[in-house]
Parts: sequence; structure tokens; C-alpha cells
Amino acid sequence: MLADVVEYLVCPVCGADLAMADRGLLCPAGHTFDIARQGYANLLPGNARPGTADTPEMVRARDAFLGAGHFTSLAERLARSVASTVTGKACVLDAGAGTGHYLSRVLDRSPEAVGLALDISKHAVRRAARAHARLGAVVADLWRPLPLRDGAAMAIVNVFAPRNAAEFHRVLHDDGLLFTVTPSPGHLGSLVEPLGLLTVDERKTERTDAALAGYFKLDARQNVASEAVLTHAEVATLVAMGPSAHHVPADQLWARLESLPDPLPVPLCFVLSAFRRLD
Ligand SMILES: C[S@@+](CC[C@H](N)C(=O)[O-])C[C@H]1O[C@@H](n2cnc3c(N)ncnc32)[C@H](O)[C@@H]1O
Ligand SMILES: [Zn+2]
Repeated sequence: MLADVVEYLVCPVCGADLAMADRGLLCPAGHTFDIARQGYANLLPGNARPGTADTPEMVRARDAFLGAGHFTSLAERLARSVASTVTGKACVLDAGAGTGHYLSRVLDRSPEAVGLALDISKHAVRRAARAHARLGAVVADLWRPLPLRDGAAMAIVNVFAPRNAAEFHRVLHDDGLLFTVTPSPGHLGSLVEPLGLLTVDERKTERTDAALAGYFKLDARQNVASEAVLTHAEVATLVAMGPSAHHVPADQLWARLESLPDPLPVPLCFVLSAFRRLD
């Protein structure tokens, strides 16, 4: 619930601490933010443009696919890694949380922690708000100052979402860890050519590290690979969830899928990295 994480939140207008008021969140300067019927708060400044937000269709697709359990091994590996850092009552921030799928698994494994799901898509946040009892969900932009107190998060989770190194550094506790998940080059291997998908850049991991340099240093890294047997409908969903969604129109995708077996084996390849804060 949002009440679990209010103590970590600050006002997006003036930066002062937020508190729970009658029907919303309130700062000492009188800035107020409604809590939606679904239990989330919108902390986007009035002039924000949610250009990169997931659409309702993308959110529905991701929810269905993740719910079917194809990324379970990744979620479990992430949850175990976070649980080894987070002990006692601490806040785990999921930056770009989507539907809250990964944060929920993390909270299952860290029974005293509370989770803050942050995403710019209100459609995603609406789902995240009901994903777990100890999870609070907030609409916010990762490219703006985050509505969190300095050092508020004992862990930050960032799964296929934008990374704001300076703000992650500010809101992460001195002893905390930042966990990132990125696709690695073999991801979706056999599908890339026949479906005309975008390939994962060979230097993707290197680029992630470079974007965090100056703020974080690598602490640990592991490859997480599995194979899923997916129906054509599931492949279509998976493509709709990723960067190729805007690249390959749905009708072309279905036409190309016709030449492939149904169901078919698909490699899923990720890199899970843990970063420590530099001083
Ligand atoms: C590929 S999805 C990953 C979602 C989730 N981590 C998962 O793996 O299921 C990327 C997410 O980042 C969010 N996003 C994109 N730009 C953002 C921004 N500037 N601020 C906050 N969230 C953003 C999208 O709305 C979407 O939910
Ligand atoms: Zn304020």
C-alpha cells in the first residue's frame, strides 16, 4: 500500500517531505497530490509529457506474458540477489517497474521490506498498485528528480527500463545496491532473423556500465539464460513488450511467424548486474 512508502517520498514541486493527508499526499508548503481510486499517487510535475510510457496494450501484453511464468527464473534470481542485501524493514525501489511483477517477487523473498514501484505509465502503475500488499506505486519520470528522499532505498531494481545514474546515486542508501537487468546478445536468437527483430547490441553491457560510471562501480554480474517454448501468440506478445514493437508491425509479424513451428523454442538471455555506490 502507498502508506507503507510515504515516509520515503518527497514533494515533486518543492522537495519537502510528503505525508498522508485526508485523500491524498501533502507537503508542508501545501502542495497536494491525489491518491487514485486504485491506490497509486501521481507525482509527475504538471508539465510532464509521458512520451515513453507504456500504452495500455503494451501493459496488457506484458502482464499476460509475465503471468504465464516465462521469466520466472530471472525474477527468482533477481529476488534472491536483492534478499541477500536487504534485511529488516527497508525500502526497495523498482525504477521503471511496469506492472510490479519483479518487485512482487522481490518482496516475497524479503518479508520485512516494503517496495516502491515507480513508472511513467499510469496504466502500468495502476496494475503495480495491486501487485503486492507491501508495495506502493507512484507515477513519476525517471529523467526528472525522483520524488524520494536522499538515501531512501536500500536496493534499486531496474529491469529493461531507463537508468538515471545521478538520481539513483542520490536516492540509494550508502550501503545499498543497484540491480540492473539487460538483455544480452543471444536473446531471442533464433527469432531475430526470420521475424526481422532488432538485435541486442554486442556492446549493450558495456554501454550500461559506461552510463553508470562516475556514480557506481560494478559489484557482481551473472548471466541468466533459459529457453522458453512459446506459441505464436506468446511470441507476438513478447515482441509487443520489447523495442521491436514499434519496428515490426503486428500484421507483418504474424505473416512471418507462419513459416515457423508453433510452438517453438526461444532462448532468453539476460545479464543481472549489481552496482555499489561510489562516494
Ligand atoms: C520494457 S518496460 C519494463 C517494465 C518492467 N521493469 C518489466 O520488466 O516488466 C519499460 C518500462 O519503463 C517505463 N518507462 C519508460 N520511460 C520512463 C521514464 N522516463 N520514467 C519512468 N518510467 C519509464 C515504461 O512505462 C515501462 O513500464
Ligand atoms: Zn511541496
